[in-house]
Amino acid sequence: MTQLSKLTRQVETRTFPPTFLFGAATAAYQIEGAAHEDGRTDSIWDAFARVPGAVVGAENGDVACDHYHRYAQDVAMMADLGLQTYRFSTSWSRVRPDGGAVNAKGLAFYSRLVDELLERNIKPWLTLYHWDLPQALEEKGGWVNRDTAYLFAEYAASVHDVLGDRVESWTTLNEPWCSSFLSYIAGEHAPGRQDPAAGLAAAHHLLLGHGLAAQELRTRDSSLELGITLNLTVADPVNPDDAGDLDAARRIDGQFNRFFLDPLFRGSYPDDVLDDVAGLGFESVVQSGDLEIISTTIDVLGVNYYHGESVSAHPGPLGERAAAPSERPKRSPFPAADGVFWHPRGLPVTAMDWEVQPEGLTRLLGRVHRDYTEPTGTGIYVTENGAAYDDVVADDGRVHDADRVDFLRDHLAAILDAIDDGVPVGGYFYWSLMDNFEWAWGYEKRFGIVRVDYNTQVRTLKDSALEYGTIIRDRRLN
Ligand code: NOJ
Repeated sequence: MTQLSKLTRQVETRTFPPTFLFGAATAAYQIEGAAHEDGRTDSIWDAFARVPGAVVGAENGDVACDHYHRYAQDVAMMADLGLQTYRFSTSWSRVRPDGGAVNAKGLAFYSRLVDELLERNIKPWLTLYHWDLPQALEEKGGWVNRDTAYLFAEYAASVHDVLGDRVESWTTLNEPWCSSFLSYIAGEHAPGRQDPAAGLAAAHHLLLGHGLAAQELRTRDSSLELGITLNLTVADPVNPDDAGDLDAARRIDGQFNRFFLDPLFRGSYPDDVLDDVAGLGFESVVQSGDLEIISTTIDVLGVNYYHGESVSAHPGPLGERAAAPSERPKRSPFPAADGVFWHPRGLPVTAMDWEVQPEGLTRLLGRVHRDYTEPTGTGIYVTENGAAYDDVVADDGRVHDADRVDFLRDHLAAILDAIDDGVPVGGYFYWSLMDNFEWAWGYEKRFGIVRVDYNTQVRTLKDSALEYGTIIRDRRLN
């Protein structure tokens, strides 16, 4: 494409399609607090947060944003921003404490939340699993134990029993790469295990749980909008003429993208990745019939995009990208990534040290559409995208987060570019509605468009929230 046509296109495509949904996302453990109220018991994150050194500042989600008590006020704030949809997760430990009997009080909370959202005309976008497995199930092997997949489908059914009459959009899992590889191989996330074979088994059982839950929900109501959310990336070789660099990019694409997309959309694991992990016993984990269940038709693929990767088989002249606990594990997160080096590209970085690369989102959406969602007729939504910055409260009491405003605008523009390229992106969820418990980083990293003062629980709209509100109102980028 010439520079001129690119420019013309950019000027012409500032308007969002009429059906495009604007939303924001959160997750139960990161915002709810009330960790020991109304029958909720420990999840793996409650237990992991007690392990010395696991979470920066020894923080935990006991109180978090106290959303459990302040949900009505938070929903009112969403309505003020003009959000059309809100992505949240239900906590397995609240709904079925210890993974056992149903807890009516826990479900009642989500029922109140959904009513409040509907009252304000905000579409609830429900995720069943955002990383908080009941600790009692972890003690029986967690996701390494195949039984957990079946229990997950039972838990999904319990949530559907109560919310099925009001919630249309159901996401089974959030980012299974994180709840398997980062959690069972790298040990950076709960439950903090470091065992490659366990991580592979966990990944397969998560996918199996997804398929079983999708089948259960589909049988109950064929009109539901069913989906899964994956954290996908764009892996570019540092030197496209170097065979080693190309192979590094292939391996990263294999573990983050194709290891999850292929079984879901094609009913098979990619051969090259199976070769990469040969010797870890993965073939004995996959039972006959599993892949048919995993590839159950879904309506929506949620794409979470934060940044791409520039990878090489050789250490870079500038050294590797600086460490960030959530993405630079103590050990390689995946056996196939041994010997892969991440090279900084000189792009601006966020407070997570993640490179800001909006054009990667355009490319990613195009590739996923072409290779996976178009052939299967699946819808595509950006279910997470956002940035942490070291926000400061200015003398006027406000947060002038210009970097986040730019990040938001540039990624929305990247989505418009993808739409122009023919990718039918259905909507966008900024991560996150408000500052919250950023897993191994505790409360240190702030992703919100709304600031949370953790001492007073006061919420303050940052400039990015005001900007987002304007974009939503106008349905275009001015
Ligand atoms: C992905 C996860 O789904 C979310 O929980 C996390 O806070 C963000 N990325 C930012 O790291």
